[in-house]
Amino acid sequence: MARNQKDYFYHKAKNAGYRSRASYKLDQINTKHNVIKPGDSVVDLGAAPGGWLQMAKELSGGRVVGVDLQKIKPIEDVETIKGDITRDTTLKKIEEIIGEHGADVVICDAAPNLTGSWELDHGRSIGLSESALAIAKKLLKPGGNFVVKVFQGDMFKDFLDEAKENFVYLRSFTPRASRKESAEIYVVGKKFLSTLIKKGQEYDVEILEIGDQRDGIARVGDFVVFVPNTKVGQHVRVQITDVKPKFAFANIIE
Ligand SMILES: C[S@@+](CC[C@H](N)C(=O)[O-])C[C@H]1O[C@@H](n2cnc3c(N)ncnc32)[C@H](O)[C@@H]1O
Repeated sequence: MARNQKDYFYHKAKNAGYRSRASYKLDQINTKHNVIKPGDSVVDLGAAPGGWLQMAKELSGGRVVGVDLQKIKPIEDVETIKGDITRDTTLKKIEEIIGEHGADVVICDAAPNLTGSWELDHGRSIGLSESALAIAKKLLKPGGNFVVKVFQGDMFKDFLDEAKENFVYLRSFTPRASRKESAEIYVVGKKFLSTLIKKGQEYDVEILEIGDQRDGIARVGDFVVFVPNTKVGQHVRVQITDVKPKFAFANIIE
């Protein structure tokens, strides 16, 4: 069955003109989790030979940028960078292309050269996933989406816990096009939280205005925080009760 499945997606990709069977993994991730929408700007880390880039371009039609250690053969209307995603110089190159408003989606299918040693391969994969998360945190617009491949192992849960802090919604997913024997799994983070506000946290805030729903409006970083039963100019200590991608709700505690 595994062999048949491998052959099925390999031939399907070849016939459809995709550079790798991996195109179908991204398609299946997107069908399930709706991470790339029409018009989105997408940054693809570890993108060679370019199967995900082709699919990302098809799904978004927007600006698509691919990065890899290896040169990526040109794809129409897709920009590419030859660089190492673990280095700051590569992030700078991406930022120059993407611009100050950031990207809607960051995806990463990067994989280390496999040694056959499970622990070593897992450790290196986690290293790449950490780099991808760090880049996503720098590049994503508030509310943006993130997909990253990880080889499973004992550091996986810590990585998930770390990633979870930055997104409203985080899930792991194995697309059908992944080989059955593969240890790979994709982590999908949706609705990037640009400021690390968490439920339960307390802040001293000033009410700056009153919103349409009559809640007071304060700011914490680039977050709008709605506080009911307050007046403009009031200084209050609040506790966050709910966090959305661009705003949060809080109640007065003092
Ligand atoms: C499985 S392939 C990606 C396949 C691609 N998603 C596609 O659909 O064609 C993994 C890629 O990760 C790249 N890679 C590994 N480490 C990297 C790093 N530190 N920086 C950039 N790319 C890296 C490899 O060169 C390789 O091309």
